[in-house]
Amino acid sequence: MLSVYRAGQLLLNLEKNKMSRTVFIAGNWKMNKTAAEAKAMIEELKPLVAGLKDVEIGIAPTFTSIGAAVEAAKGSNIKIGSQNIHWAENGAFTGEISADMLKEAGVQFVIIGHSERRQYFGETDETVNSRTKACLAANLQAVVCIGETLEEREGDKTETVLETQLKGGLAGLSNEDMADVVIAYEPVWAIGTGKTATKEMAQDTQAFCRKVLTDMFGVETAQTVRIQYGGSMNAGNSAELVAQEDIDGGLIGGASLSADTFVELIKNAIS
Ligand code: PGA
Repeated sequence: MLSVYRAGQLLLNLEKNKMSRTVFIAGNWKMNKTAAEAKAMIEELKPLVAGLKDVEIGIAPTFTSIGAAVEAAKGSNIKIGSQNIHWAENGAFTGEISADMLKEAGVQFVIIGHSERRQYFGETDETVNSRTKACLAANLQAVVCIGETLEEREGDKTETVLETQLKGGLAGLSNEDMADVVIAYEPVWAIGTGKTATKEMAQDTQAFCRKVLTDMFGVETAQTVRIQYGGSMNAGNSAELVAQEDIDGGLIGGASLSADTFVELIKNAIS
């Protein structure tokens, strides 16, 4: 049995680990906003988030808006990401984009394996793995998305699905690589539906994800990896979600499309 002293120490360590992981809130704009609209919103957002401490803020617009977004975000604490990356350096891959192209455009992070990519565009754990490796090789931060469908949750398959996605998507990565990897846990049934996982459910699931990361990379590395929650996160629930031990930020769709709601969500998350 754990001694009271040892249990107290473990709790202190968990608290320390949580505090050492900077909250990362990223907006996933999906197929929304023209370049002009992206520029306008980032300019509106800039002064509202200037000076916010202990938080990393990102926005991933569409490919054609990346240039305008990077230009508008200059000199601010907003980093710009992309929603995909291909594993090849160049070549006959119609509709895809390479790491070099993204780097040249000023991108700093890449969302990989979002459930919409898995659902509509045939993304698999294997392609997620290839994209993640290309992303890390270019020194770009990878936001690797995982999540179970409603059917899988109801069929009691959540843990198996997440473990498979983590082990497949992160296969072959080193502990060093993991410094640039963020996991986004997004239950598919909560995306764009207004249904959020309860804070307890999200915490339990994300603690499980950290356990899988511990099996894969050891406790020290697993404790440094940030795990975002995604799926109808908004200004009303960001505080309670991000307060959880294993929830280190959010990947935000709908609520990231207007400066007011996004800023409120961020401020509440770090309050
Ligand atoms: P949502 O989307 O916040 O609109 O649910 C989240 C996501 O898909 O990343």
